[in-house]
Amino acid sequence: MPDTYKNFIDGEWVEASSGETFESVEPADTSRVLGEFQQSTKEDAEEAIRAANDALEEWQALSRIDRAQYLRKVFQIIDERTEELGELVSRECGKELSEGKADVVEASHMARYAFGDARQPEGEVVTSEIPAKDAYVHRKPVGVVTSITPWNFPIAIPMWHIAITLVEGNTMVFKPAEQTPLCGVKLMEIFEEAGIPDGVINMVTGYGPEAGQPLSEHDDVDSVLFTGSCAVGEQIQDIAANTGKLTACEMGGKNALIITEDVDMDIAVHAAIMSAFKTTGQRCVSAERLIVHEDVVDEFQERFVAATEKITYGHPVEDDVFMGPLVDEQQIEKTQQWNQAVRDLDDAEVLVDLEEVDGEEYEDGYFVGPFVYRVDYDPDIAVIHEEVFGPHTAIIPYSDFDEALDIHNSVEYGLAGAIISEDYRKINRYRDEAEIGLGYANLPSIGAEVHLPFGGVKRSGSGIPAGKDIIRAVTHRTAWTVNNEKDIEMAQGLSAEIFRGGEEE
Ligand code: UN1
Repeated sequence: MPDTYKNFIDGEWVEASSGETFESVEPADTSRVLGEFQQSTKEDAEEAIRAANDALEEWQALSRIDRAQYLRKVFQIIDERTEELGELVSRECGKELSEGKADVVEASHMARYAFGDARQPEGEVVTSEIPAKDAYVHRKPVGVVTSITPWNFPIAIPMWHIAITLVEGNTMVFKPAEQTPLCGVKLMEIFEEAGIPDGVINMVTGYGPEAGQPLSEHDDVDSVLFTGSCAVGEQIQDIAANTGKLTACEMGGKNALIITEDVDMDIAVHAAIMSAFKTTGQRCVSAERLIVHEDVVDEFQERFVAATEKITYGHPVEDDVFMGPLVDEQQIEKTQQWNQAVRDLDDAEVLVDLEEVDGEEYEDGYFVGPFVYRVDYDPDIAVIHEEVFGPHTAIIPYSDFDEALDIHNSVEYGLAGAIISEDYRKINRYRDEAEIGLGYANLPSIGAEVHLPFGGVKRSGSGIPAGKDIIRAVTHRTAWTVNNEKDIEMAQGLSAEIFRGGEEE
């Protein structure tokens, strides 16, 4: 019998009011159940929000430095357990072992960053027209912050949301993705072991409509941090716009690489394989479009296809595996549908179709192999504009750089992208004109470090629920001006006299 795990509310491990649980299984072998988890309801979410609210006063009475001490303990524990947690990430979300560990290391880096940053509060000293005035920008915590996180980075992304938010003096309710609740539970166990005061961080597991929605709607929630799908993120943004809550959402993308004619082809092929197939194409920053100059497209295609065909897949904790499975049935169906949409196109040439994965060892897993096609750009082809979130990528030829940029920017999304080129002028134009939040030159479109602002433009999101920039979603600014004299003197030449016309006070 698998273990049953509980919600973490007000420092206690508690059952959900529904009395129901759901399973988490290994996507590489669904016969392996990792545990049973609480199917939380609105009442459980409300209970957690109440606990977070009640904990605010004591938490805010601590200095930033004292609050950050808890994070120091958190990253020390994480560092001691990187191997074990990395393997858990690999088992629960299906990415290969080096990626599972990198997820854990990324979480540790985020906690370290927030810990160090605690001694340097963000603010601004500004000047005044009046010599006797000091003016500066002071930041205050918003209060209760909720965090709704995806399954593809089940330890790192929660830590992006949590680390700085707590140091700033907010309390939190966190909901892990329903595909990776065990990673969420393990993270809460680490906060508990670090001695975090009751109610400062709470967790409810479960599904979006029941457990997640109340976290974005409740009156006592001041800010909502979200990383995940566009559909959910847009709902959260609508609620925030109507209720005055702050929010920062990072959603998907239809990311691209531009590969120019003056390219180092080794870099191009390497960067394209990493961008398209690392994490089985299930990063928000994975590239599903390779926009390649017509002079080099045939050479690129030949080498990229040959490299793709050699990609190894299998159980993520086995050696020498590059690609694990997709996360669940829904992802399989979505990927299959978009692959089929390509097969149905008149003018697309399918170059690699390894969708069907044969072999007994794959039978119980959500395995799908790589899919590569070549197609001329056409604004009416949906599949080159919509995110698949699987090992699926298009090679799109172009003839001049303006056209490459137009194709690049033709999608509604703008998260990440890269240019592979030896021509610094094109690289700089790409930096300036590509509509993206994260850009790379001669690198894959994946692999951002935690202190960078991770977020996108257009439908890829607004606000940055990551890095230092998260501060904008979890604090309010006060423009604070102090008079160091007894006389009141106003800026802009405004008169401060109340008795005008010669009368003395
Ligand atoms: C995601 O794709 O959802 O930049 C997060 C990267 C990682 C984070 C990815 N640091 O690839």
